[in-house]
Amino acid sequence: MRPLRYLVLLLAFPIVLAAARTHETNPMSTPEEFAEGKRLYRINCGVCHGMEGKTGRGARLARRSYRRGNSDAELFDLIEAGIPGTDMPGLWLGEDDIWKILLFVRTFAEKASELCEVTSGDAEAGKRVFETQGSCLACHTVGSRGGRLGPDMSFAGEMYTTQQLRDALLDPGGAVADRYRTVRLVSKDGEAVEGVRMNENLYNIFIMDRSENIRSFRKEHLQSLEQPGESLMPAYGDLLSEADIDNLLAYLCTLPGHAKEDPQ
Ligand code: HEC
Ligand code: HEC
Repeated sequence: MRPLRYLVLLLAFPIVLAAARTHETNPMSTPEEFAEGKRLYRINCGVCHGMEGKTGRGARLARRSYRRGNSDAELFDLIEAGIPGTDMPGLWLGEDDIWKILLFVRTFAEKASELCEVTSGDAEAGKRVFETQGSCLACHTVGSRGGRLGPDMSFAGEMYTTQQLRDALLDPGGAVADRYRTVRLVSKDGEAVEGVRMNENLYNIFIMDRSENIRSFRKEHLQSLEQPGESLMPAYGDLLSEADIDNLLAYLCTLPGHAKEDPQ
């Protein structure tokens, strides 16, 4: 290419980008536009963010607020330009298509805010219970802190209803996901190990022990192997007061916390 062509490209680029958005708020609203937005989302975004905005290589979109901006205009610009230095690509979509996608993306946040409701408790006090007398942090991560024996609680407020959280605290054995089933075994050398089941096949079982070491055992060599239905998590009905539990629920509902706590 000749230098002149470069110059033309350099000049044309910002003009094309700047000209793309002609509205400050989303002009789309009809059911047809919504359906089209959903279709376009599936093609362009679903691989990374998941059809419910909950999974994948991308950030979680099923949340009440975004780290990088929440107005229609900010989200439009972000979707159009992408996020340099991350996997989030800039996409060559027309203005109308981006607005339609955004119409669909907005429904994730509405669903997220239906979930947890802070009722009577005091979230600040609940945070202290979580970190001290409840020792929840020993097994659960919030943000960059905490243990890995139980599921990550960083998005608890967007993942569970208040009732699900209460049930989990009072009756942890209720519905234990496969990945977190308790395992107790005695190795061929007579070592007793307790932990959560990470994975299993015909011959081997992989567990995370109470010190968070990931270990694998050949099943035929074990002296014993038990997978009792209960959770490693203690039932908190007897361990904490009702007020502490209300405070804990209030705290969990506020997670992932607010933008000001976020490093970015
Ligand atoms: C190749 C993977 C990929 C694709 C495709 C993709 N994204 Fe992303 N997206 C990401 C990643 C990774 C991030 C997080 C970047 C960061 O902040 O580190 C992100 C971040 C975002 C954010 C900001 C979230 C926040 O909390 O600030 C929004 C909104 C978003 N994406 C929407 C979309 C939409 C809508 C599409 C489709 C038009 C899309 N993305 C396509 C990977 C992708
Ligand atoms: C000894 C480790 C341990 C401690 C301490 C612990 N948990 Fe758990 N927790 C787990 C494990 C393992 C699971 C997954 C199995 C299950 O659902 O019971 C779990 C599950 C949960 C769930 C349900 C997650 C789901 O996807 O269903 C919630 C909510 C929860 N814990 C909150 C707490 C809170 C709040 C505390 C402190 C009061 C706490 N946990 C203390 C290990 C622990």
